[in-house]
Amino acid sequence: MRHFKVTSLIFICLLLVANIHAQTYQALRIPDTLSGTTFNLVMKDTFKQILTGQQTITGGINGDFWGPTLIVNKGDLIHMNVRNKMNDTTTLHWHGMHLPAVMDGGPHQTIPPGVLWQPFWTVTNNASTLWYHPHLHEMTVEHLMKGLGGLIIVRDTDEAKLALPRTYGVDDIPVILTSRRYDANNQFVVQNVSYGDYMLTNGTPNAAVSLPKQFVRLRILNVEIERGYDLGFSDNRTFYVIGNDGGLLNAPVPVTRVKLLVGERVEILVNLSNDAIGSSFDLKAYNSNQAFGFPGGEPNTSGQFGSLLNNIDFPVLHINVAASTANPITALPSILINNTYWTAANATVTRNIAITNGQPGPASVPFNFDNVSFAINTINKTVQKDAIEKWTVTNNNVFGHTFHIHDVEFKIVARNGNASSVGAYESGWKDVMYVPRNENVSFVARFTDYADPIHPFMYHCHFSNHEDGGMMGQFVVVDTTQTGTQTVFNENDFVVYPNPASSRLFVKFNDINTRAYYIRITNILGRTLMMLPQPELSNGVDISLLPAGTYFMQLTDLKTKSTVVKKFVVE
Ligand code: C2O
Ligand code: CU
Repeated sequence: MRHFKVTSLIFICLLLVANIHAQTYQALRIPDTLSGTTFNLVMKDTFKQILTGQQTITGGINGDFWGPTLIVNKGDLIHMNVRNKMNDTTTLHWHGMHLPAVMDGGPHQTIPPGVLWQPFWTVTNNASTLWYHPHLHEMTVEHLMKGLGGLIIVRDTDEAKLALPRTYGVDDIPVILTSRRYDANNQFVVQNVSYGDYMLTNGTPNAAVSLPKQFVRLRILNVEIERGYDLGFSDNRTFYVIGNDGGLLNAPVPVTRVKLLVGERVEILVNLSNDAIGSSFDLKAYNSNQAFGFPGGEPNTSGQFGSLLNNIDFPVLHINVAASTANPITALPSILINNTYWTAANATVTRNIAITNGQPGPASVPFNFDNVSFAINTINKTVQKDAIEKWTVTNNNVFGHTFHIHDVEFKIVARNGNASSVGAYESGWKDVMYVPRNENVSFVARFTDYADPIHPFMYHCHFSNHEDGGMMGQFVVVDTTQTGTQTVFNENDFVVYPNPASSRLFVKFNDINTRAYYIRITNILGRTLMMLPQPELSNGVDISLLPAGTYFMQLTDLKTKSTVVKKFVVE
């Protein structure tokens, strides 16, 4: 009996030790996946047990923090059903996707509370790691901080042919890096915070993951407010950059460190074949002693520009080495895909953008472009469809910034005027670039497809507090070859039927060449319930979720952009 008590006491002690260990590391959450061609996304206010004690108020998409990873195939026509169940208006932007501006989810495509927004497009991007996130002007920090966003994995046949790890959550791991500051009640501090104090990797504090003893692929995304990461491993092992924001590089690039600024993605291969099962190491941010102006390099540990993680090296993911899988990738491919990049010589238009000081005020961040702060009704640049353009972003500001552009993936062609200063690790297609203090960076992009003279795309610093503060501009892509007589569209030009309707509502235009640019369905109180950018309409509009009653369809014609309202009844 006495003997039994002693052993059980030892057992309890062991459990306690195990428990302390479990509190040190938590299993890395792997976001669920959604695949296919129709994606249902519900944005909502919620809460999550992040720390011990009080839960944290968060935002989630189909969950309690962050959203599902969408897996899409190049060439597929995909439909998004985005439902805003939050109390606030928001938007949802498909970062890195090439798609019509009216579907893009930028600051113009607001989704009021309760509304179903239904953009759709054909995926033309190459295999890559993209992401989606809210983009409501002046609210981007707040909505991102809540945890709204998600990863998108684009697959294609070129990538599929390569011997690369691609079993999601097993040897192909999403690593989404951010940090938060908490108040005494475990709530995220949002106001006047540029950097969090504690890491959240895929929303998990002190995250650890077991990875098989073979080549593994990490798809790393920086979703910080401002912090950059200089990533590497705790044993300084060499790893291989295989992809940038817009897809695979021509060949793997061996590195021991890679900088990843806000909004950027990097796909890397890490060789665990020579690691002992049961051994462990860390993916770390080597952020100490960075050049002045590197975001997160500031020495302060508190205050608006301070953080407990500033100017130090810190782990972002603990990796435990486990047994290999049944069909492991054991070799590094020597080549990947054959990209044909634009060069500076291809560009027929050059533009220069300067990062400038804005007007410091109580609510504004003192940065903008060319001394002009973002104004929602001002189009800053007009680009001809199919033009190849070279943009040079010059930063003579006190601090490092990023530059992101919608619609296109670009090729960085020079840093400070030198092609040879562009890092091999950033030699692929990109949509965000780091523009360090006192430097300039040039990219070349081709603006194909999707001309739309009224709906703009954005370019901005991806520090969400800077974009909210006005460090953003907008451009339209125009097709000057497209002319034609512009007769005014009117209510006799189409019919809506059946009326009353029950499940589907059809629209028939008198002129078969007429296309809808936008449909908005409102109720009798004028409240918007559904928003359909450039709807295809051959199968009608699914109105089965609308309760019986009277509604209005506001239809905007593609050619003339005139809006006509028709009443219909749902029975
Ligand atoms: Cu990641 Cu304008 O956005
Ligand atoms: Cu900035």
